[in-house]
Amino acid sequence: MADMKKIAVLISGGGTNLQALIDKIHGKHGEIAVVLSNKKDAYGLTRAKEAGIEAKYIPPVDENGERLDDEAYAKILEDEIKKRDCALVVLAGYMKIVPKSFVDAFPDRIINIHPALIPSFCGEGYYGLRVHQAVLDYGAKLSGATVHFVNEEADGGPVIAQRAVEVLPDDTPQTLQRRILENVEHVLLPEVVQAILEGRVRREGRTVFVDPSQDGWI
Ligand code: GAR
Repeated sequence: MADMKKIAVLISGGGTNLQALIDKIHGKHGEIAVVLSNKKDAYGLTRAKEAGIEAKYIPPVDENGERLDDEAYAKILEDEIKKRDCALVVLAGYMKIVPKSFVDAFPDRIINIHPALIPSFCGEGYYGLRVHQAVLDYGAKLSGATVHFVNEEADGGPVIAQRAVEVLPDDTPQTLQRRILENVEHVLLPEVVQAILEGRVRREGRTVFVDPSQDGWI
C-alpha cells in the first residue's frame, strides 16, 4: 500500500462501519493506518486486528492514573494520527465529543457519520439507539444517515452526503438502527471516504460539492 493515502478511524463500539471501510476501502482506495478506540472492549478493535490493521485502545487516564480532560485526551489521539501521516480521520461510531483543538489540528480532514438526517435528531445526547428512539417518539416518517465534516459543534459541521430510509409502522429502535446501518451507513460512508481520497469533494462555506464517479452514486 506504498503510495495509498492513509486513514485513521476512531471507534467506540461494534465497528460495523469500520468493517465496511475495511471491506470497501482498505487496500483498494486507501490504507487504514490505525484504528483508535476510547473503549477497551470495542469489538471494532478485534475487527481491525483481524484485518491486519494496527488497533489501539486509548485509556482516559495519564501514566499516574489521573483522568485526562477532553483536550489532553484528544492530544493523544492527534499525536497518534499525525505520527502516521493520515490524510483523513473518520469518526465511525465514535461516541466522545471532540474538542476544538482536535478539529483545528485537522482542518477539513475529519468526517463523522450520524444515523439520522441532520439537522434533525442530532447534537449532544443523540447517539446510538437514542437517535432512533427519538425518531420513533417524534413520529417521523423518514430517517437515514448523514456524513459530515466535523467542526466544534456536535453534529454541526457541513453536510457531505445524506440518504433516507422510510420509518415503518412496526419499527423498534433496533430494527430502524439495523435498516439504516445496512442500507445506508455501510454504503454511504465508504463512498464518501473514496470521494474524498480521490479529491472529488470540495467545500465552499457550509456547502459541500461532490463530483460524481462512474461506479457509485456519489
Ligand atoms: C452507527 O449507527 C453510527 O452512525 C452511530 O453509532 C453507530 C455505530 O455503529 N454514531 C453515532 O450515533 C454518533 N453520534 P458501528 O460501531 O457498528 O459502526
